Amino acid sequence: MKVIEPCTLVIFGAGGNLSRKKLIPALYQLERSGRLPEQMVILASSLDPWSRDEWLEEVSRMLLAKYPSGVDEKAFERFRERLYYHRSSLDDPEAYQKLRKTLEEPQFPPNIVFYMAVRPSEFPNLIEKLAYAGLIEEKAGWRRVVIEKPFGYDLLSAQILQKGLYRYLNEPQIYRIDHYLGKGTVQNVMVFRFANLLLEPLWNRHHIDHVQITHSETLGIEGRADYYEGAGALRDMIQSHLLQLLTLVAMEPPVSMSAEHLRDEKVKVLKAIRPIPQNAVHAHAFRGQYENGMVDGKSVPGYLEEAGVAPGSTTETYAALKLFIDNWRWAGVPFYLRTGKRMVENSSAICIRFKAPPQDLLKQTRKEPPKPNWILLGIQPKDCLRMEVQVKVPGLDLHTRTIGLDATYRKGEDEDYDAYEGLLLDVMNGDHSLFLRYDEVEWAWRVVDPILKVWSMERDFINTYPAGSWGPRGTYRLFDREDQFWRHSLDVDGEDLRAF
Ligand code: BG6
Repeated sequence: MKVIEPCTLVIFGAGGNLSRKKLIPALYQLERSGRLPEQMVILASSLDPWSRDEWLEEVSRMLLAKYPSGVDEKAFERFRERLYYHRSSLDDPEAYQKLRKTLEEPQFPPNIVFYMAVRPSEFPNLIEKLAYAGLIEEKAGWRRVVIEKPFGYDLLSAQILQKGLYRYLNEPQIYRIDHYLGKGTVQNVMVFRFANLLLEPLWNRHHIDHVQITHSETLGIEGRADYYEGAGALRDMIQSHLLQLLTLVAMEPPVSMSAEHLRDEKVKVLKAIRPIPQNAVHAHAFRGQYENGMVDGKSVPGYLEEAGVAPGSTTETYAALKLFIDNWRWAGVPFYLRTGKRMVENSSAICIRFKAPPQDLLKQTRKEPPKPNWILLGIQPKDCLRMEVQVKVPGLDLHTRTIGLDATYRKGEDEDYDAYEGLLLDVMNGDHSLFLRYDEVEWAWRVVDPILKVWSMERDFINTYPAGSWGPRGTYRLFDREDQFWRHSLDVDGEDLRAF
């Protein structure tokens, strides 16, 4: 294990949702497992006029909300020692000079990570202020800045944002986070592909019929209307998380697992995605919005009834896409991506369907159409790896049946961790492998930009779906052939022909 240099982690927006639900719990867990560097210090910063003691109480509340059965007292004692608070008041022109002075105090190691857990619109201003206060200069130690998604809201705004950042920061100082890449199963896609030779000969257009990548959630927008109204499902999930998954499934083996080699290969995939002309958007993309319905036996309001949503809003809470990757490996293989809020279940998975054997030798003995092979990579809630194959049903007749080869790789004693734990350690370690390089972000925007443009012009109508369903009717028009269907479950025969 590499020894991490002591550093100071400054969290801007420390009182906000991300910090409360993800960052503070992840840092506490790292403390518990003894993974934080000895002299690492966490300086929380937000608008609230808290003293250090009040911040410590706030942290206890955050952890209690996350772990209602209690925390490890010893680890929490150690964790408290690291925590400091700095009020950043917007009306105080001297605020950043004060921050600089605070950071010069001896308890703060001179290597600094600035974590932007604030609204994306505040990034440029915040970084400019840090730069003017001399806080970005790498005189005494290194400086790293972590930026959350969304990185811009379309191609042009991402380019402008990037220009703004490059005025003060170099690319190696920037960590654009996509928390999906911190999920163990997502990394397992690479291990599965590149640590096994078995699959490589099959992993191409000659054998694969199509790929489906799904992220469905039962939750609605959780009081985030101010963000979600301007984002929608395409920006919120597909431009970032799902396109990242697609790159991992489709990329060529990298020269090495180093950050640059990995990201070079991912960018090549994004560049090879066939651009969708505006007049073909309807053939390649489908959007929908949830109406009221039942989720987990409870009645829930429709999107238009959520607090903060504009009357008649056509923001999509469901988006599905068909993409083609025009390169030698994938020419002609459709990649179907879909995501939705208030769906029937929480499920993220990559489902890869194989082609039929060249000759159907068993057609005389079978009544239904032949069943294809699938490889299923479950990301959450269950991380799993399955393959579906055909076998003979025991008995005198030659009937076939689909069975699942279930490679459960999680063992009872294996660690469970949140994506943010690993990613925070990576930033402290200076490892960019699981962070987005600017060209990745830009090429991902190029993929979705034409769709965003067309949808933003069509403000009169959006398809709807009842909360608690699998999304709007009609998404099947995206499929290339009649025998292609959304795979709703990872169980054998999960290919539900009737569900929509
Ligand atoms: C976030 C999106 O990036 O990812 C949310 O903004 C979404 O809308 C979330 O719910 C999904 O991530 P996870 O890790 O909770 O599945």
